[in-house]
Amino acid sequence: MDSNVRPETLARINTPELAQAFINEQIEAIRAQVGTDRVLLALSGGVDSSVVAALLIKAVGKQLTCVHVNHGLLRKGEPEQVIKVFKDEMGADLIYVDAVDRFLDKLAGVKDPETKRKIIGKEFIDVFAEEARKLEGVKFLAQGTIYPDILESHGVKAHHNVGGLPEDLKFELCEPVKFLYKDEVRMVGKQLGLPDNMVYRQPFPGPGLGVRCVGAITRDRLEAVRESDAILREEFAIAGLQGKVWQYFTVVPDFTSTGIKDGKRTDDWMVIIRAVNSVDATAATVPEVPYELLFKIRERIFNEVKGVNRVLYDISTKPLATIEYE
Ligand code: XMP
Repeated sequence: MDSNVRPETLARINTPELAQAFINEQIEAIRAQVGTDRVLLALSGGVDSSVVAALLIKAVGKQLTCVHVNHGLLRKGEPEQVIKVFKDEMGADLIYVDAVDRFLDKLAGVKDPETKRKIIGKEFIDVFAEEARKLEGVKFLAQGTIYPDILESHGVKAHHNVGGLPEDLKFELCEPVKFLYKDEVRMVGKQLGLPDNMVYRQPFPGPGLGVRCVGAITRDRLEAVRESDAILREEFAIAGLQGKVWQYFTVVPDFTSTGIKDGKRTDDWMVIIRAVNSVDATAATVPEVPYELLFKIRERIFNEVKGVNRVLYDISTKPLATIEYE
C-alpha cells in the first residue's frame, strides 16, 4: 500500500468522539513506532506542530524534545504562549531558542522578498540543526505534515519555506497527522485541550511578520507591525470577527509620509490593515468591516504604536492583488 494515501478505513473526523478515537489510536501507534527512543520536534506554535506536540506528549512524554525557535518575526505573545501551554501546562521538554538577533542581523539591509524568505528558511534550518546536534540518542523527527501537504507538495511543507535537514542529521519521521485535513487537525487539537486561539488560528506565513515589514526589515518598523497586528487581532476578537474573517493582519511599508502632531510636521510610517476572506488562498474577497471598528483600531494605533501617522484599509481583492504584500 502506498503509505502516502489516506487509508479508506480512516473516517472523516467531524465529531469530538471521532477525534478522541483518532487520538487513542495514534497514541498506541506512536508508542509502537517510537518504543523507548527519543523524538525531536520543531514546534512553531502553529496548529499542525502544536497538535503533533500534544499527541506526542500524551504518547511518549519526556522522550519528546520540542525546539521552539524565536526568529523575531512571530506575533506578539506567541513565544510566551508556546512556553506556557507546552512547558508549563503540559510539562513538555521544551528548548526555547532566542535567535532574534541572529535572524535580524542576517536580514539587515535585505530588501528583496525572495532573498528575505530564503534567509529566514535557511537560518531556521541552521538553528534547528545546531540544537539537534546538541542532543544525544534522537532517532525520530516528528513533523506536522498534513494531508494537503502531501497532495500539493509531495509531503514537504513547501509553503513553510524550509528545506530539509543536513545530511548528518538523519532521522526517521513520525508524522501522526499526515492523513488529516486542516479541519480535522483542528478538531483533534480542540479535543486534546489546546487553547482556541491556537486551534483556530488564521493562516500565518512561515517567514512571519518578515513579509509584512515590507522591504529591508528594521527593528523599530518591525515593532510597529507587531504592535499594530496585536491591536487589530484584539479588536477583531472583541467585535466577534475572530474565526469569521479568514485572515487579517497589518503591513508597514518602508516609506514615510507627512503628518502633523502638536502643530509640527512629522515624517512617519503608515499602517495598512489587510483583511480577507478566502477558501484556499487562491482567491480572496474583502469583508465589509464596520467603519466604527476601523476608526477604533485607528485611534488605538495612533495612541499606542510609535512612529505611525497614517492608517489605511486595503480594499484589494485577489486577483489582482495577492494577500500578502511581498
Ligand atoms: P498570497 O500573498 O500569495 O498568500 O496571496 C496566500 C496565502 O499564503 C500565505 N503565504 C505564505 N505562507 N510562507 C508561508 O508559509 C510564505 O512565504 C507565504 N507567503 C504567503 C499568505 O499568508 C496567505 O494565507
